[in-house]
Amino acid sequence: GAGDGRPRMYTEILEQPESVDRTLRGRLDERFGTAHLGGLDLDARELRAIRRVKILGCGSAYYVGQMGALLVEELARIPADAEAASEFRYRNPIIEPDTLYVAVSQSGETIDTLLAVEEIKRKGGRVIGLVNVVGSAVARACDGGIYLHAGPEIAVASTKALTTMYVGFALLALQLGRVRDLSVADGKRLVAGLQKLPAQIGQVLATEDRIAELAATLARSESMFFVGRVRGFPVAREGAQKFKEISYRHAEAYQMSELKHGPLALISPDVPTVAIVPDDELTDRNVAALHEIAARGGPLVVVTHAGVDLGALEVERIDVPKNETELDPLLLTVPLQLLAYHAALVLGHDVDKPRNLAKSVTVE
Ligand code: BG6
Repeated sequence: GAGDGRPRMYTEILEQPESVDRTLRGRLDERFGTAHLGGLDLDARELRAIRRVKILGCGSAYYVGQMGALLVEELARIPADAEAASEFRYRNPIIEPDTLYVAVSQSGETIDTLLAVEEIKRKGGRVIGLVNVVGSAVARACDGGIYLHAGPEIAVASTKALTTMYVGFALLALQLGRVRDLSVADGKRLVAGLQKLPAQIGQVLATEDRIAELAATLARSESMFFVGRVRGFPVAREGAQKFKEISYRHAEAYQMSELKHGPLALISPDVPTVAIVPDDELTDRNVAALHEIAARGGPLVVVTHAGVDLGALEVERIDVPKNETELDPLLLTVPLQLLAYHAALVLGHDVDKPRNLAKSVTVE
């Protein structure tokens, strides 16, 4: 820990209001409802010429890349997707001149991400970095980028780097949107939403005791699902990743809609599900899926918003503050960090030194 006896991961979870605030600082334009990202080194004409966005990272950086791809599609209506950097570089990727490649990395030293960047550059593509460590190998290899300013992240399980990466994507998507068809009114709405995030993260952190209780219950199960749909799915993937890497319980992420095409067979009173159910245009579909899980006796922990009516369903709920719908994934992710952390504590694991894992994998 930071000399205070607390695990480093816990300190970093609690730092998130400040780290997100630093990522935002000086980058929001309230008057035009947009973001200023000087480090991109792209003018409006170059930003408008981008026809596709391809995001690359490993682990949590890959999952937040999936959240980022959805933000780019929603705000800028540019086709976007994320891929594990390792898979990308092993499959002789097609590099297009009008695609913006985005490399995401806390350390900036992850070898798979670095070699993906070098492959793109070798083929003449344009890559920007979403990187925390200033002057790191990925940052140097990119054409420009967005530094996260999360502060040092030392715990192996990424927390504050991930939330600042999310904010970095929101800023990028906002700027890409505002040189296209995103209206000034929507831009201002999103700027206001971003400004609210630090305080709202604090509100989620204040519900820690309740989350710790639920974590102790989940920790008793050998196996569980994390499910979500569209915006909720990468949140579920990140939640399952965090849970399995420090608690060593089997936690599998699944798309809510795919449950009935397979793993529903595994749902039972011994296999709980953590479901991500934001208050959005998909709430009804998600609640219907919860009924299917409940009908098979599967215990449910639902991460949701106060406005969502779960009727007669017997579930444990974790309500997070509502933001603008596009930005909801960030606040839905924070309780999952605490859930994993408290499950690992209850099980007596050293959360800062998970077995078999390194903070950054720098050799092939
Ligand atoms: C993994 C770490 O090895 O690398 C993860 O255990 C991390 O926590 C991933 O998300 C990517 O690291 P980086 O530094 O490239 O963001």
